[in-house]
Amino acid sequence: EKNQMWGGRFAEGPAAVMEAINVSIDVDRRLWREDIEGSRAHAAMLARQGIISPADAEAIARGLDRIAQEIESGAFPFSRKLEDIHLNIEARLKELIGEPAARLHAARSRNDQVATDFRLWVRRACDDAAAGLKALQAALLDKAETHAATVMPGYTHLQTAQPVTFGHHCLAYVEMFARDRGRFADARRRLNECPLGAAALAGTSFPIDRDATAGALGFDRPMANSLDAVSARDFALEALSAAAICAGHLSRLAEEIVLWTSPHFGFAKLSDAFSTGSSIMPQKKNPDAAELARAKTGRVTGALVSLLTVMKALPLAYSKDMQEDKAVTFQAFDDLALALAALAGMVADMTMDEARMRAAAGWGFSTATDLADWLVRTLDMPFREAHHVAGRIVALAERKGLTLDRLALEDMRAVEPRITEAVYSVLSVDASVASRTSYGGTAPDNVRAQVARWRDRLSQE
Ligand code: ARG
Repeated sequence: EKNQMWGGRFAEGPAAVMEAINVSIDVDRRLWREDIEGSRAHAAMLARQGIISPADAEAIARGLDRIAQEIESGAFPFSRKLEDIHLNIEARLKELIGEPAARLHAARSRNDQVATDFRLWVRRACDDAAAGLKALQAALLDKAETHAATVMPGYTHLQTAQPVTFGHHCLAYVEMFARDRGRFADARRRLNECPLGAAALAGTSFPIDRDATAGALGFDRPMANSLDAVSARDFALEALSAAAICAGHLSRLAEEIVLWTSPHFGFAKLSDAFSTGSSIMPQKKNPDAAELARAKTGRVTGALVSLLTVMKALPLAYSKDMQEDKAVTFQAFDDLALALAALAGMVADMTMDEARMRAAAGWGFSTATDLADWLVRTLDMPFREAHHVAGRIVALAERKGLTLDRLALEDMRAVEPRITEAVYSVLSVDASVASRTSYGGTAPDNVRAQVARWRDRLSQE
């Protein structure tokens, strides 16, 4: 059976494997809304420019409405013979309205059509990702507010470093996710130019109005070069880069949830709604959602690498290679949306074990820096020397199996005779975090001020 779109030049239909490698409808049917929107804008413009009659444009618009209903209700007869979403819709339009449908493709090619559809899709995906990030930020802000003064160990090398507040830790992610949102907003701004009207690659001899179609589709302007318009996929690469960086951040939060819920940390408990059990071990409550959110990073980053590789060294203008842009991009944004929603749910539902966190914050001589700082402040010791003295006191406490705030004054004085009783005021974990009032530091008052600032900012965005 010859192809109904280009059968004129062909004597035979395609081999089965030709059809199999060429078909994209199973993937790009997700572009149906964008495709219809683009066709509507194109048809209306063609009529205004006198390229088709108003009656034809009217028939096309009605036919497209009907197709939208059919797709929405599941009644649309998708056909793999018709390769992709563009040809499926056009063929159905022909069935529904007859001859006017055949006039729609004047001054247009599937090359500018798919570039337009895909830009519209990626634009929305960027907006959705930003909204998902905002919801996650809101969940983290609630936790930060509740736990502005909840002390936990801060780590470097995953070894106890200094006490921090859990609120401060949550706010670190709020900052990261704000930058992620910024990257999606940047990608959106740069991609918001319209390829429609570039036609196959060279532009068209019809007197089209590209400003009109660009405006109707919410683009800032038409793309200025027809070859670039149909060849560019850096808009998808940029969105995928933002997605990959974001997924990387999500994996760090997910990993911390896995650690915190491990009984060896015991800092957090997930709700039943966000845990799974084991088919053999009755006691189990596993953080599967956090693990999967962590794993999605591999898929999202894979999508970026995949499309970078597809696009590398492609000569201008369109090549069919570019059809492979969509599956990976759809998958990456689906994965990202799931990971964002799952993490927002876990964060909102998670309960923290404040007593355990506080106790853990005191292990590992976490206030040794406070001791050194005290020696500098009180005895006017140079910091390097204070570091050495505090180090010897830590070694002594370790030998005696005591935390710093339990070590006897005589023991400290054996190392540095000028130490007084007053030193104990800086050795508790609460004193430690309360003293970190430098801008950006972990003190509970700082956390409260930052929560207020973020609430304000999120309510205005
Ligand atoms: N399905 C194609 C894609 O996604 C549409 C463009 C086809 N253009 C062409 N000249 N074969 O890229």
